[in-house]
Amino acid sequence: MPMPKNPDADSTTVKLSRETYSKLAALGKYGDTMDQIIQHLTTQARGLEDVVAGKSSITYIDGREGRLLYCGYDIADLAAHSNYEETTFLLWNGRLPTSGELNSFRQELAAKRAIPRDLISVLTTLPQNCDAMDALRVGVAALGIFDDPMYTQLERATSIASKTGTMVAAIHRHKHGQAIVPPREDLSFASNFLYMVTGKVPSEGDEDLMNVLLILHADHEFNASTFTARVIASTLSDVYSAITGAVGALKGPLHGGANEKVVEMTLEIGTPDRVDPYIREKLANKVKINGFGHRVYKTMDPRAKILKDMAGRFVRTEKEKQSLEIIERTEAILLREKNLHPNLDLYSGLALNHIGVPAYLFTPVFAIGRAPGWLAHVLEQFADNRIIRPIADYAGPPLTQYVPIEKRASSGGGR
Ligand SMILES: CC(C)(COP(=O)(O)OP(=O)(O)OC[C@H]1O[C@@H](n2cnc3c(N)ncnc32)[C@H](O)[C@@H]1OP(=O)(O)O)[C@@H](O)C(=O)NCCC(=O)NCCS
Repeated sequence: MPMPKNPDADSTTVKLSRETYSKLAALGKYGDTMDQIIQHLTTQARGLEDVVAGKSSITYIDGREGRLLYCGYDIADLAAHSNYEETTFLLWNGRLPTSGELNSFRQELAAKRAIPRDLISVLTTLPQNCDAMDALRVGVAALGIFDDPMYTQLERATSIASKTGTMVAAIHRHKHGQAIVPPREDLSFASNFLYMVTGKVPSEGDEDLMNVLLILHADHEFNASTFTARVIASTLSDVYSAITGAVGALKGPLHGGANEKVVEMTLEIGTPDRVDPYIREKLANKVKINGFGHRVYKTMDPRAKILKDMAGRFVRTEKEKQSLEIIERTEAILLREKNLHPNLDLYSGLALNHIGVPAYLFTPVFAIGRAPGWLAHVLEQFADNRIIRPIADYAGPPLTQYVPIEKRASSGGGR
């Protein structure tokens, strides 16, 4: 495969960081020269694939090696040693906190968990059967109205991050006609969330697993919802609007909704011996299998690997063991037949089920986990802003004479 030449030698207009250039060069699929790469990326990159849309110092992804770093720290190390609060501090400050800093950050987050009474009224006025992501979108938008208008940007970020968990738990309790459980400041973020959902303080094992899930979801560079948040922030709109938009983007099944679908698929398959015919039929009909494929990873998503490794330890009941077997068989077939690798969503449903989170809350829990990342990107955008306003490669008709309505013969189709 011919490798593109060095960009400095080839182009005077494009300056990419060495790492980004290496990534694009390693792809080797856009041509021999940097000009050919640029030509492709500016005219044919459907869905902005491989397009560099801005600078960021938050998250680094190597899609070929399957590496994910938050501010330089490997996701595997963070999953093994960190927790929600520390990882949030890292994403917002670019460095790990000292123990004093972590304690005060924990307290600030915990103190902002309770949601205003008016916001509870809004959430409990919504139909009990409404989609939980729709309810969360309403909740975040309403929080922008009820939150303290004197908050600094950082206080707003802290408020949103703290309160998404409280809102999701309230949405869940309302759905079942149960009393809303107020947050406790003495519990960790992960433990308090499960406590507000179930009414019981979780075991240490469940708290740890919840922390891992939150860390794995915390950020993922310029994914669709984060990019949405950055675009909104770049207009100098407010942070609540940016996060409301991000919640809307996350709701889509190509983004946040996939793990719920994986659980549905596992139930539909039923037993491990049915995996082969089920998957073959789907592939023959060109149906995409949820939990597989990724725009950036061309190997196993490192987050899926972490959960897969952990699954052997947390899976206990016969039902869980059966689901794991179904998932692993599906993984083997897709690798063999389509060279497709699992993404985070393949294993996250199994973990969420294990800690008692119902399937319809999977995407809202993804939002709780991703909120620190969204907020880190919004703060980064505000700190060095220029409105995000790309241009389109126009493919419509040329200049056309305007015809008065009475002289138009027929509609002639059109969009
Ligand atoms: C994640 C996803 C949206 C990435 O989309 P994308 O980068 O636009 O990739 P494409 O949809 O163009 O897929 C490229 C090829 O792989 C195939 N493919 C990708 N994901 C697939 C999947 N999950 N199952 C079966 N085939 C898949 C496509 O059919 C396509 O094949 P073709 O070139 O023969 O038409 C896509 O892989 C997907 O829909 N996955 C399922 C949903 C999911 O798990 N989402 C969670 C993402 S973290």
